[in-house]
Amino acid sequence: MNSIATSVVNIFKNKFSAEPNIYYSPGRINLIGEHIDYNDGYVMPAAIDKGVYYAIAANGTDTINFFAADFNESLSITLKEVTKSDSWKNYVLSVVNEFVLLGKTVNGFDCVFGGDIPRGSGMSSSAAVEGGLAYALNDIFNYGMNRVELALLCQRAEHNYPGVNCGIMDMYASINGKRDHVILLDCKNITHEYFPLKLDGYKIVLLNTKVHHTLASGEYNVRRKRCEAGMVVLKKELNIQSFREIKSAADVELHKDKMAPEVYNCCKFVVEEIARTQKAAALLQQNDVKAFGQLMYAGHEGLSKLYDVSCPQSDFLVALAKDNDNVIGARQMGGGFGGCTINIIKDEAIDDFIATTTAAYQKEFDILLEAYVMQLSNGTEKISA
Ligand code: GLA
Repeated sequence: MNSIATSVVNIFKNKFSAEPNIYYSPGRINLIGEHIDYNDGYVMPAAIDKGVYYAIAANGTDTINFFAADFNESLSITLKEVTKSDSWKNYVLSVVNEFVLLGKTVNGFDCVFGGDIPRGSGMSSSAAVEGGLAYALNDIFNYGMNRVELALLCQRAEHNYPGVNCGIMDMYASINGKRDHVILLDCKNITHEYFPLKLDGYKIVLLNTKVHHTLASGEYNVRRKRCEAGMVVLKKELNIQSFREIKSAADVELHKDKMAPEVYNCCKFVVEEIARTQKAAALLQQNDVKAFGQLMYAGHEGLSKLYDVSCPQSDFLVALAKDNDNVIGARQMGGGFGGCTINIIKDEAIDDFIATTTAAYQKEFDILLEAYVMQLSNGTEKISA
């Protein structure tokens, strides 16, 4: 067990004088396919070696006791009192609520959790929190739900109390990850394939802008509404049911005058990004990492100019990457408005790239950049009982 897991377990033993079950629930990266999980697209995420650890045990009462180690905050309530709250509490309580809505019998439990995913960084700390608790409760109370059902439950949980109308990508990737593999997730049919990630001499590095995207969660829902508004027009005009059926952005352009400009831009991006992700999956299987990287740059351009979810800090970091021959692909990752950029960098150039980028970023924005070299991990799992 690593030091975070050990600390979570020690806190649990001190607070509750019992032996917990221990679970790991990872964050995720996304190589390509942004904002298309809720538009019937394909996305290419992977679970990572940063995540949330849970120590948890049934307590034989009707009370649930949480301790959020990263916030140094507790919450004790009876099961009858579970309702919408705020901050971290919304994520855990919403998961409990979803089990109740399914008619599952939730009994009292004690729970300590904490992790190392920087919050608001676009690595899905919220999905890791939700998925870890859902997986643990399914295990200790024997609900018999499978991983896909748990991911869908977590998505509903995120829609419900926190109020973010997210797609399925984050929770699916967190729960279904596989070490050293990326997931090609079909978000329409909710099925996936794994690909081994072979980057031959390159690594994935995240650069954290430290601009916290959580502040802009309202904007996420706005983007979703724009796509829905566009779909109303496109369904009628193109006789299709889903963005996936649209052959090219030229078909969307034919109906540009029937949509608000920002709605048109979002629809154009979605159609292009769905095509990019399918192409990217083929390139990855052919080990053509360089061509894959070019698609990442093109994706960022669309996120910034069409979908309008970037920010000056992310644009700055991607521009620096693009100017550097050792970085073969980069783009803003996740919901947007900051968070991390994801970069594919030649092994021997990583240290130098991080150093020069950190200095330039500090000079431009007076913010100290953080960089993480990523490893791909298994999805949510029990570490020990
Ligand atoms: C957030 C959401 C995901 C997805 C991404 C953008 O992470 O939770 O469902 O839409 O943004 O790709």
